Amino acid sequence: MSLPKAELHLHIEGTLEPELAFELAARNGVSLPYADTDELREAYRFEDLQSFLNLYYELMAVLRTERDFEDLANAYLARAAAQGVRHAEIFFDPQAHLARGVGMGTVVEGLWRALGKSEEAHGVSTQLILCFLRDESAESALETLQAAKPYLDRIVGVGLDSAEVGHPPVKFREVYEAAAALGLRRVAHAGEEGPPEYITEALDVLGVERIDHGLRCVEDPALVERLVRERVPLTLCPLSNVRLRTVDVLGDHPLPAMLEAGLLCTVNSDDPAYFGGYAGDNFDAVRQALGLSEDQLRELARNSFLASFLEHDEERRAR
Ligand code: ADE
Ligand code: ZN
Repeated sequence: MSLPKAELHLHIEGTLEPELAFELAARNGVSLPYADTDELREAYRFEDLQSFLNLYYELMAVLRTERDFEDLANAYLARAAAQGVRHAEIFFDPQAHLARGVGMGTVVEGLWRALGKSEEAHGVSTQLILCFLRDESAESALETLQAAKPYLDRIVGVGLDSAEVGHPPVKFREVYEAAAALGLRRVAHAGEEGPPEYITEALDVLGVERIDHGLRCVEDPALVERLVRERVPLTLCPLSNVRLRTVDVLGDHPLPAMLEAGLLCTVNSDDPAYFGGYAGDNFDAVRQALGLSEDQLRELARNSFLASFLEHDEERRAR
């Protein structure tokens, strides 16, 4: 599916394909506890978000140098471009790298080597969003924002990810206030596994402009009404929801009802190397499993540009 679209929910570390993981492991002398790519792929059977996160953090061990981050981002951008992505707002998880002794500069400069040339090389414009790990402390998030200060010209905003339940948005009030004071845009994962109240809290306490996932809003009609009224974009990730078992099968996904309700939905890939597909694959999958019309697919693509941090003239150019 090559409908032009923006990808707004994409973890760059979640684009690490098994082949590249083994290549980087060999390059960096890191040993992986899997014999080969087939055995690694066998491990991609997840019970829930946490079981995925365990593997996601484990495999990051192969990412060590600027060149590794550059190669990772270039591989993603080439795949995304082939699937119609014209603009990508890309999450990264610096705390997971800092904890392994890989500095903020290595991560950001490495990613930038690819992102800075992406329009020319892949026809994809890009933005970077620094995510705080919500299962780490609020102090650690503040330290991470501090470490990012020399690189703020490369970072459009902040996000919140990792294990959701038990780590409500309010825990990160201070760092989001600090991020806003620095002129950064704000988004947060909420309502993936966590309750609808986390979505409300992300809006009211953290001041976010978009909700990542937001799937569980459907449990609270008053919240749905608010999200429709305030035109709050939701960055849904259908294949991720099936792989992490927040939805049993794709045919049960509430996307059609959410569109019907007037929610500003977008379709994204989350961690495509782990969940079986990139942005276009997610579009294809929802079209097939949910019988979405061409008009609904065009609405989703249009929403992706509307919900992006692109200016309007750039949005028109991307179409
Ligand atoms: N980190 C990477 N993918 C994630 C997801 N789907 N939810 C929360 N944190 C993540
Ligand atoms: Zn995510």
